[in-house]
Parts: sequence; structure tokens; C-alpha cells
Amino acid sequence: MAEILKFSCKSIEKAVNILKKGGVIAFPTETVYGLGANGLNPDAVIKIFEIKKRPFFDPIILHVGRKEDIQKLWSKTNKKAEKLIEKFWPGPLTIILPKTDIVPYIVTAGLDTVAIRMPSHPVALEILKKIDFPVAAPSANIFGRLSPTEAKHVQEQIGDKIELIIDGGKCPVGIESTVIDLTEEKGIILRPGGISKEEIEKIIGKVEIIRKNEKISSPGQLPFHYSPRTPLKILNEYKEIKDGIKAGLLAFKEPKYKEKFVKIEILSEKGDLKEAARNFFSCLHNLDSAGLDIIYAEPVPEEGIGMAIMDRLYKAETKKF
Ligand code: TXA
Ligand code: MG
Repeated sequence: MAEILKFSCKSIEKAVNILKKGGVIAFPTETVYGLGANGLNPDAVIKIFEIKKRPFFDPIILHVGRKEDIQKLWSKTNKKAEKLIEKFWPGPLTIILPKTDIVPYIVTAGLDTVAIRMPSHPVALEILKKIDFPVAAPSANIFGRLSPTEAKHVQEQIGDKIELIIDGGKCPVGIESTVIDLTEEKGIILRPGGISKEEIEKIIGKVEIIRKNEKISSPGQLPFHYSPRTPLKILNEYKEIKDGIKAGLLAFKEPKYKEKFVKIEILSEKGDLKEAARNFFSCLHNLDSAGLDIIYAEPVPEEGIGMAIMDRLYKAETKKF
């Protein structure tokens, strides 16, 4: 199993050395734990795909520790990107623009664009500031499964395939970054996430958002994703609950009916969407390991970061119901 080390000078040094040698590490970001490798070294990046069992058509985000690093990685930028970087970096916003020649096609899955973000988590930033290459990092889970927001989630899923996990505690945002494509004049949100559409529109005006089942240019939009192994159903009315099965509930707030469930996880007792996002994947991991027949999930309001939570729930929902 992987060694789990807390944040310290020693653990950062160890992580940096592994990355410099072309190895792979798991580290915390403010959104979810990432599985990182040298993003300019194709042999290192291939290891990420193998560990995650990720299809090669799914491009990876490059993480930088300094805003200037984008100059080497994007061949073009624009006013909208500059404004968003100024406002939201470091933070949970990933921007897509045309790539330069130094970015390997294995990172971009053959696309001529590359997705970049500067994370705000102190562990991620500390590592990135100590190296002179970007870190390619998807979420540190098996492809399609629940994203990890605690070190133990990483250990459970891929601990036998990596050397080191840096433990930074629970990820404070808890949901992946928002991915926005700025290659065309109008910005297009490919994946809702930690920064809401409303927050983005305050800075650059109207943007589009790709709804589920529309054109898939970001595989994070594949209809199955972020899934627990237990069947999951979004619960619109309590009368949908089947009798005689071991059911669990992912509740938004304190639930009205408790007696039908053998396990209940509450996202936010006070109904706060940011708190709900922070707890979302942890609660799902807990329900998924409870030996249930089904997980019912209450919908949350689709506003602010609630849009990102509902996006994950639609994709986690088992389609055969
Ligand atoms: O919060 C996050 O973004 C986390 C942490 C670790 O930074 N990372 C993450 O990576 O969620 P991943 O690989 O699980 O999701 C990246 C998403 C995928 O849906 C991918 O298809 C999309 O970004 N993406 C990456 N590069 C792209 C590109 N050039 N064009 C379109 N979509 C792209
Ligand atoms: Mg992912």
C-alpha cells in the first residue's frame, strides 16, 4: 500500500523527488485529491492512465504553481481568460485554450487545446512551486468511480499502485473544478464545479453551459461518471422508495422520513450548498461501503455550486431504473 504522509517539509521533498524522477503521487487540492505526474513527460503521464484505468481519449488538466507558467503552455490567450485568472486563481477554475508544442498530445488526448488550473491548496501549491514543470493530475480515483476527498479514499481505490499519498485532510471545496473552454469568443462551461456560472458571468458576461446529453467534448460529461458501486437513484418523492430492501439516503438537510432507511448521510444540516459540496463525496463513500441495496439521493437546489452537485448526481444515477 502507499505510504501516507502528513504535510511537512520532508513529505513535500519526497513528493517533489518522485515527480522529478517521472513517478506518480497523490496529493490534496482544494477540490479533490489529484493523481500527479510530470505533465511534460509522456512516459510519466502514461502511468496515470494505467493506474486510473482511464481511456486515452480523456484529456488531463495541467496544474501550475505560478500564473506566468501559462506562457509556456498556451499559444494564445484572451481578455476573458486574463480576467478569470485574475479573479479566481489560485482556485477551482480550469481554463481551456490552444496549447503550445511542448505540451504532449498524451495529456490533451490528441486535442490542440490544453486545460490548465492553478490550485489554491497549500500542499498542492508548495509542491508546484518547487518544480519547473506543470503537474498533470486527474482526480485520484479509478475512472468513473467516486472522486476522493480524503487520503483514505485514495488508499482504498489505488493505494496498491502508488508509492506516496500526501494527506492534507478533507478537501475544503469537495467538488472538482469548473472547466471552461475559452477557445471561442463565447465561453462554454464543459463541467460545472467549484466556481459557479453566476460567479463567472459577473466577471466576463454570459457564458454557455453544456447540459447533459448534449455534445460531449469533455469526457467528464460522459453520462456515467462519479459513480458509487451501489445502485443510486435520485429521489423525487418519498413514495418511490421500494419496501423490503436495504436502502440508504443521501439527504440534503435533516430528512423528514427516516424510518425507511438503514443508513442516512446528511450533506448539510443547515441546508448550506457549500457545506453540502464539501461533504458530497465523503457521504457517498460512506453510503457506498455500508452494504446497501440502493442509495436514494435527494436533489439539492440547482443554484451556485448546487449545479455542480446535481451534475455529479445525474451522472452517478444508475440508468436502468
Ligand atoms: O478539480 C479538479 O479539476 C481535479 C483536481 C485534481 O485538480 N481534477 C480533475 O481532473 O477533476 P479530471 O481528469 O478528473 O477531470 C478533468 C476534466 C475531464 O472531464 C476532461 O475531459 C476535461 O477536464 N478536459 C481536460 N482537458 C480538456 C480539453 N483540452 N478539452 C476539453 N476537456 C478537457
Ligand atoms: Mg475525475
